[in-house]
Amino acid sequence: MDEKGHRRFQITRRTVLESGTVTAAYLLGGFPRIGLAADAADEEATLTPISVELHVNGQVHSLTLDPRTTLLDALREHLALTGSKKGCDHGQCGACTVLLDGRRINSCLTLAAMHDGQAITTIEGLAEGEALHPLQRAFIEHDGFQCGYCTSGQICSAVGMLGESQAGAPSYVTENLTEAQPSLTDAEIRERMSGNICRCAAYPNILAAIRQAAGAPT
Ligand code: FES
Ligand code: FES
Repeated sequence: MDEKGHRRFQITRRTVLESGTVTAAYLLGGFPRIGLAADAADEEATLTPISVELHVNGQVHSLTLDPRTTLLDALREHLALTGSKKGCDHGQCGACTVLLDGRRINSCLTLAAMHDGQAITTIEGLAEGEALHPLQRAFIEHDGFQCGYCTSGQICSAVGMLGESQAGAPSYVTENLTEAQPSLTDAEIRERMSGNICRCAAYPNILAAIRQAAGAPT
């Protein structure tokens, strides 16, 4: 109180500490509660299973999936097609490469629900019965693998890559952009396959296998 009897607000060390404690309690307790409540609502919404029809290697599979299921997990965990491998699970290694309507994609980076009705080809679908795909044969003949973990991704990627180059798609290292079909030099193949990592470093043999399948001198 001052001399006129008015109550005065005094900032003391004690009031600062008390107000700071209240703010901290709000930040630590208040906001996270709001966030968790929102997360729970979101989770409930996203957990509602959805129906997806996946066309894989010429067969139609009707699945009921958590909408967050990646294409890779749908193939491996729901269809037991374990040829496509999970290396990094975030688009860096290429071990999960499959073909989608003939184009290569990293199946770990896309949701199964986005590919309802599209033609998906995995390594299991490349051979024609007992006859291996020319790239599969070339990988065997050139010993294009050691542990083999990257191999299905390498082969699917090479199939897509040969299709891209035959269609005339240039790469970062294509020198003559007027060519209808860029020649597949070693530099072209290396660049176009650079999304597929081989930790065994079987690159020279992978390159030789792809050159053979592409009809280039090996
Ligand atoms: Fe998909 Fe590595 S597992 S890119
Ligand atoms: Fe082992 Fe490529 S053969 S990672």
